[in-house]
Order: sequence, then C-alpha cells, then structure tokens
Amino acid sequence: MSSKHSPRQILVTSALPYANGPIHLGHLLEYIQTDIWVRAQQSFGNQCTYVCADDTHGTAITIKAEAEGISPEQLIARVHQEHKQDFDDFLIRFDNYYSTHSPENQHFASLIYRELRDKGYISTRSVTQAFDPEKQMFLADRYIKGNCPKCKAEDQYGDNCEQCGATYGPLELINPKSTLSGATPIERSSEHYFFKLPAFTQMLKDWTRSGSLQTSVANKISEWLDTELHEWDISRDAPYFGFEIPDAPGKYFYVWLDAPVGYMASFANLCQQRPELNFDQYWRPGHETELYHFIGKDIVNFHTLFWPAMLDGAGFRKPSAVWVHGYVTVNGKKMSKSRGTFIKARTYLEHLNPEYLRYYYAAKLSDGVDDLDLNLKDFEERVNSDLVGKVVNIASRCAGFVQRLNQGQMSAELHAPELWQEFAQAKDGIQALYEKRQFSAAIREIMRLADLANKYVQELAPWSLAKDPSKQQEVVAICSQAINCFRQLMIYLAPVLPKMAQESAAFLNCEALDWSQAGQALLNHRLNPFSSLVQRVDSKAIDAMLAASSDNHQAASPEGQTAKSSKQAAKGKTEKAAKASSDAGGIIQFPDFAKVELRVAEVISASLVEGADKLLCLQLNVGELGQRQVFSGIRSCYQPEQLVGKKVVLVANLAARKMRFGISEGMILASGDDSNIQVLFASPEAKAGERIS
Ligand code: MSP
Ligand code: ZN
Repeated sequence: MSSKHSPRQILVTSALPYANGPIHLGHLLEYIQTDIWVRAQQSFGNQCTYVCADDTHGTAITIKAEAEGISPEQLIARVHQEHKQDFDDFLIRFDNYYSTHSPENQHFASLIYRELRDKGYISTRSVTQAFDPEKQMFLADRYIKGNCPKCKAEDQYGDNCEQCGATYGPLELINPKSTLSGATPIERSSEHYFFKLPAFTQMLKDWTRSGSLQTSVANKISEWLDTELHEWDISRDAPYFGFEIPDAPGKYFYVWLDAPVGYMASFANLCQQRPELNFDQYWRPGHETELYHFIGKDIVNFHTLFWPAMLDGAGFRKPSAVWVHGYVTVNGKKMSKSRGTFIKARTYLEHLNPEYLRYYYAAKLSDGVDDLDLNLKDFEERVNSDLVGKVVNIASRCAGFVQRLNQGQMSAELHAPELWQEFAQAKDGIQALYEKRQFSAAIREIMRLADLANKYVQELAPWSLAKDPSKQQEVVAICSQAINCFRQLMIYLAPVLPKMAQESAAFLNCEALDWSQAGQALLNHRLNPFSSLVQRVDSKAIDAMLAASSDNHQAASPEGQTAKSSKQAAKGKTEKAAKASSDAGGIIQFPDFAKVELRVAEVISASLVEGADKLLCLQLNVGELGQRQVFSGIRSCYQPEQLVGKKVVLVANLAARKMRFGISEGMILASGDDSNIQVLFASPEAKAGERIS
C-alpha cells in the first residue's frame, strides 16, 4: 500500500433508487456504505469515481405520476431533485447523479441490445398475459387482485396468496380485478423479446467462482446455476414509460434491462464533463481499472446473472465484484409505516445530524449480507458514548489549556512517543479493514485508540497540573499530545464523518485530513480556538422523528387515506386518525396532536366506489367549510343509505389527496377491523362545521 504504486483506478456504483418514492433510512445503508468505501479509497490516494442515478422507467412510475396528476417526466424531474438533496444532506458524495431517462442510457441500452441480437442472443415468442380492457394495457401480477383459488381468501395479489401461500397465475384468481381500473382482466397474447441467458451458464459459473462475490452470495448463485437458467423476458408492450426497442415498434425495454445500463450512462455523462476520464478504459475489457457495484440482497439476480451476461454478450467488461449488504430493520422489525419506523431521509434530517447515522451504520456494518438493526436506543447511546464521550471529548478537554497557557501553540515535541507509536502503527490495519468493508472492525480499532488517549489524559489529569504554575509547559505538552491523538482519530474516521473531519481540520488549522498525514504529528503548530464539533443525541429528537414518521401524521401516505394495502388490512386495521400510536413507540407530542382539527360533518350522500370494494365515497356538509368529499374504507360494515343524514367526525385539516377514484378531502374517524368497523358519530344535535376540542 505504498504511495509509490500508481493509484488504482476504481469505478463504484450504488443501486439506482426508484424514482417513484422518497429515500428512506433503509436505502441509506447502501449509499452510506458505498460513500464510506469511496471516501476511504480517495483518502488512500486512489482515483475512485462514484456514480449513481435515478431508476425512472416502468409501470410504477406511470401510476404514481397519474395519481399525482402529472406526467412521468414531471414526476422524475421532481424526484430527482428530492433524491439529490437527500443524498447531499447525508454527505453522499457522488461524482455524478444522473437518470436512466437520458440520451446516454438510451444509446447504451440500444447498443447492448443490438450487439446481443446480432450475436444471436435474442429470441422472440408469443406470451399470453392478463390485459386490462379499460386501460388497454397488459398487467403485471401485482396489479391484479382477487380471491385465492385455493383458500378463497379475498384481496390477494395475482401471483401468490398471503393467507395460504399458494402460487398461481393471475387469471386463476376467483373474480380477478385490475387494481388500476377495477375492470376484469382478459387474456391476450403478444410477441415478447427474450435474452438467452442460458447461453452464458458456463461464463457465469466461472465468474461467480472468481472471487467476484461474497461466499454466501456465490453459493446462492451456484444453486441457481446448477438448476437450469431461463431465458429472460426483456420486452414490455406499449403503453410503457421507457425506451422503445430499436427494431420493434410498440415494444419497450423492461425497466430492469436499462436500469443497470444506467451505471454506464451516468459514467459516460461524467466523462463528458471530465476529460481525464476515459469511458472505454472502465467499460471495455483488457484494462487495469476496477468496477464495483454495491447492492442490497433483494436485487442479487439482476446484478450477478443478467447484468454480467449482458455485458459479456455485448463485448463489455464484467464487474470486478458485486457486493451485497443486508436489510435495515428498525428496533428489530421490518420498517413499517404503521409502527412509525418507515423513516424518510428528509424526516430524519429534520430532527437529527446525518453523521450520527453514518457513524452508527459504520459501527455495525460488516462485509456480510446480514440484516442490520437500527435500534434507536442503542443508536443514541452509541453515538453519545463514542463520538461525544470518547473522540470529541479528547479535544474539548485539552484545547482550552493550549489556548490559555500557550496562545494556541502546540509543543515542539511529543509527550508520549509510545502512545503515538501505537496510533501511527494502527494505520495499515485500519486501511485494510476499510478496504475489506469490515467497517465495524475498523471502528472498533479506532475506538480502542480513543480509549487509550482518554486513559492517558485521565491519568495525567492536566486540569490538576494546571493549578501549579511550574507545570504549565507540561500541561501544554500533554494536551498537545492528546490533540495529536484526536487528529489521528479524525483522519481514521474521516471517511465516515467527513463534515466533522472538515471542522476538525479547521480547528487544527491544517489541510484536509487524509491518510497520507497519518502518523505525522503537529509540532510547534498553532491551533485555532476550539468550538463544539458534535452535539449529544437528544432522545426527544428521536421521539419527534418517530412521531413525524408515524402513519397518523402522514397525510400523503402511499396507501391513501382510508384504503390500505392488503398487508395492513390483514393485520387488523383502524382508521388512522383514531389509532393511538403509542403501541408503536411513535409517541406524538401534544402540540402535534393539537394541530389536528376535528369538526362535525353531516353526510349528505354516500355511494359505492366502482373498482374499490372497501370504500365508500361520502359527500359531507362541513358548515362554514362548505362541502367535502371523503373516501372512507368502511364499506364492509356500512350501507350507504345508513349513513345519509348522520353526523360524523371529520379530520378537517388533512391535506387533500388525489386517489385513483377522485380527490379525498379529509378523513372520518372510525375504529375496528374489516369485520367490525365502528364509525364515530357525533351527536345528532351537533351543528355541521362545529369544531370539536
Ligand atoms: N431500482 C432498483 C435498483 C436498480 S439498480 C440497476 C431498486 N431500487 S430501490 O429503490 O428499491 O432500492 C435501491 C437500493 O436500496 C437497493 O440496493 C436495495 O436493496 C436497497 N434497499 C432498499 N430498502 C432497503 C432496506 N430496508 N435496507 C437496506 N437496503 C435497502 O431496487
Ligand atoms: Zn390462499
């Protein structure tokens, strides 16, 4: 690892987040893991480039855009800004953050397709699929629901039953309905394009065993490779938001065909801005460059089978490695909207410092595929004890003495050469741990050093010595030594805590901290006055973040205001506003609760909603507020006629929300589960529009 070697040239990617939703703390594990690795490489002096992009194509984008009443192009443009801002604020330093909806991506997706076709790797055949006669489009399984053909459970998706586990085709459902239009799907066939993946079996077997994958991932892939690979369906029929296949009008590339090509496209776009980067050097075979993809465990097959085969078949290089991480859980459970643990990047940022999360993830990340639990109590304790209590503490206890007793001038010699030796010698070991993505082990080693430094300061107690005027130079020497140790720790931590490292460099009055400075002490050097580098984590901020993430708080939760996903429905549901969130640990503070405006509303009319068998559409008279339309998931227990003339309780200041069937302007209170829903009625004497406090 000597600096005399010419620097490695490395291209790194993280998976491209879908442009149909916000970045959340689960995603961030990946971007933080990758960013730490990239910053570490850069600190070591390697030329490491990090690209990413939004994944913008496919049906989900179209549906989301329709729900918002905007075009897919408008949606992806807005989400791009939001994602970019979230990543910036979490100090994720991409060299380029691009989009799969770009000319470069169309160019490379088409190029790869043509190469594959010309080499005989594309076949076509007719495929029969469910078709929505109203929307005039083919339906993926997840857009069809009906009753399970085996156990008859209601409201099951088109591929498998959540109740009995049966798997089936969408048209085997009893009473299948398109979730897009409510129409009954019909069967229709069309020509599809396939990528001949089986032709790459031997290449994939070799590649899988070449050290490009973690052992557990390689084993999993080997299982797939030992059974038979299937041809991969890469086309979708219009209407589809994506790229048209060059020689096939009306046929589009399936989103997963052009998504990984987005890595290339983002890099190609960067090459146009940076002449020193050469596209072919990184993407054609036969160069010394390295290419790494960081991904989550849910998208392994796309990156370790389809993608290397596409690259190989089209004459591009294969990745040097694909590195898989596990899933984030919060407080031991899958992130969940109803538990208030589906925490968006933005919500976190409104309450907590991004470097806390970077540190916590680093302190828990291994090179394996195990899930990682974000336990919020542990998070609070860990950050407070390590960052505040161990690392910054060294500087904050010592800086004042050097200022006061020696005008900020550090000693000319090291006071504890042996301690310093220990700090300097740790360099290569920590570097190797970063390299291997064993971040938790790196952090453990850094904290061991921090403990040594604290012990040193504690034992010599400069604050006591300082009382003796004859000991002042010794105090300065001890504190200078401790501050050198602090600087050393910040060099080692800089890939994880880039902002704190930068602020430390300002205090230390030295250039940006990087690996080449490790082991070099600051002697006879003037410090700037110390100012606080990190605040303790405030548990109230965590509570506030959970409250802001809870279901009840989110007017724009993806499930709509009363209609919920089948998963939630199965767990027994309550109307959101009526549900106390304390069971979820998502405490809300009184001022938040007080913002909810409850009013009496009179039901003017109620009607069934075509295509939504759980909903009623209510027209409400809300007195001075006028008339409101609300969709409510109470149909299983109330007939429309029953409700007319009744007084209900309306959450009147909830943001209006565009649902598939129309706009919902508020929510009425009710409790219970599907089999027993109780609407909360106001007294018949209550006046429509009256506020309830
Ligand atoms: N668009 C695809 C990736 C295309 S790459 C050519 C996709 N997008 S995603 O938004 O669903 O996920 C982006 C990355 O975040 C994936 O690697 C995924 O595994 C990761 N994660 C999403 N949720 C996660 C957790 N809860 N925990 C850890 N990683 C998670 O997949
Ligand atoms: Zn079933």
